[in-house]
Amino acid sequence: MRVIIETTADDVSRRGANFMAALVRRKPACVLGLATGGTPLGVYAELIRLHREDGLDFSQVTTFNLDEYVGLAATHQQSYRCFMQSNLFDHVNLAPAKTHVPDGRALDFHTHCRQYEQRIQDAGGIDLQLLGIGSDGHIAFNEPGSSLGSRTRLKTLASETVRDNARFFGGEDQVPRLAITMGVGTILESRQCLLLAMGKGKAAAVRSTIEGPVTAQVTASALQLHRDVIIVVDEDAGGWLSRRDYYAEVEHAQSLLESGQFRALGIGNQ
Ligand code: GLP
Repeated sequence: MRVIIETTADDVSRRGANFMAALVRRKPACVLGLATGGTPLGVYAELIRLHREDGLDFSQVTTFNLDEYVGLAATHQQSYRCFMQSNLFDHVNLAPAKTHVPDGRALDFHTHCRQYEQRIQDAGGIDLQLLGIGSDGHIAFNEPGSSLGSRTRLKTLASETVRDNARFFGGEDQVPRLAITMGVGTILESRQCLLLAMGKGKAAAVRSTIEGPVTAQVTASALQLHRDVIIVVDEDAGGWLSRRDYYAEVEHAQSLLESGQFRALGIGNQ
């Protein structure tokens, strides 16, 4: 896992957006896995800026969102479809038919979930999956106890998640109790995962994800099994990491390598 500790939340957003923009430039017909919540808002704002000011072109990009609340129509203000429209899709040149969010009003959930997985396969798989993290260590809506091999399915939200997300709904009793979510297994099949976290409230979950054991009790810890994961956190979210110095050293060595400063790394000195 590559762990990057940035100073501020804005730095995290910029760094995250830069990884995504670099992929879109390198592979214009790439498949992006997208997330919702407070965490990716800055990333989407930066991608919109790059589209407007630098001509970042999304015309060939396909997207798949991680999850959706059950029972909310796409037009409901708190649906994740609506979130994506207003925070990204309406402001860049993504083809509407290439944006996918699970349908919270699907009548046959089982078939819908299976078809969602199939659409991901048909698109060639996800190149880069953007992820936030719940305060209980969940990714997407894979609450503690979710099978690490799980696929897209219905999931009951944990009370902690209902509490966390109540701020968007104006009260806990308004938060849907069920969601359709990509499984941990679905997420692990993405070619690259990019997890972002900001703020003190995420410090415990970030530590468990990176330095704790792999466990279904912290579904983000399953990322330890993935071959290409980047985790970008700010000082607050990274505050409980015990190997901070090592992560910084790795980043320093990486930047020396990338800029060709081999002698500074002791390469070729002997
Ligand atoms: C929800 C979403 C997750 C998100 C998490 C954290 O549970 N399903 O994808 O990572 O909230 O949200 P926030 O970024 O608002 O802290």
